[in-house]
Amino acid sequence: MAEDVFVSPKKKGKIAVFISGRGSNFQAIHDVILAGKINAEIALVFSNKEDAPGLQIAKERNLETLFLDPKAYPTREDHEKAVTAELRKRDVDLVILAGYMRILSPSFCEELKHCLMNIHPALLPSFPGLHVQKKALEWGVKYSGATVHFVTADVDMGPIILQAVVPVLQDDTEETLSEKILKEEHKIYPEAVKLYFEGRIEVRGRRAFIK
Ligand code: GAR
Repeated sequence: MAEDVFVSPKKKGKIAVFISGRGSNFQAIHDVILAGKINAEIALVFSNKEDAPGLQIAKERNLETLFLDPKAYPTREDHEKAVTAELRKRDVDLVILAGYMRILSPSFCEELKHCLMNIHPALLPSFPGLHVQKKALEWGVKYSGATVHFVTADVDMGPIILQAVVPVLQDDTEETLSEKILKEEHKIYPEAVKLYFEGRIEVRGRRAFIK
């Protein structure tokens, strides 16, 4: 059977950023867009949390924001259908999860296959899930880092686009390790989005290649 190959589009892209909290990754990406280094615009900043500080920052930056309350929908799928309709209205090419702390249904991930990215504060496939800096410290790893990956139904296990490594020092705490990792996140997430709209990401099966 022929291998499933995807090549990211070379175009001026429209992005939706999904956040649930402070939104520092969203800001890092927006800053690089404003500096003219990513061929894209942010068409929407979406949140499942009305009080996400990142939403306020997006408003201050004159970006379109949207909050849809998951509790207002009978099922996860109904909430996602409403979100998908908003994405379609704005012709969004790429959805970027940036601290979006809500599991997405397999059908949503499938519908947005290769158009849905996430950043995770660990070197996947080690330490998927939550509280990962704590888990890394408890395990005693000597290196940790950040991973940008495509999202698939298998949570935190989609094709890896970029990773950055940080040393874990013996006196690191969850806070100091998170801080070091976040600095790297702010570099590799904008870089991954840049590569995407330069048409330079190719996915073959579960591997992503940078061209
Ligand atoms: C980031 O560290 C990101 O990697 C993590 O949440 C933080 C969001 O920060 N995401 C996850 O843990 C996803 N499983 P931000 O709101 O400042 O971008």
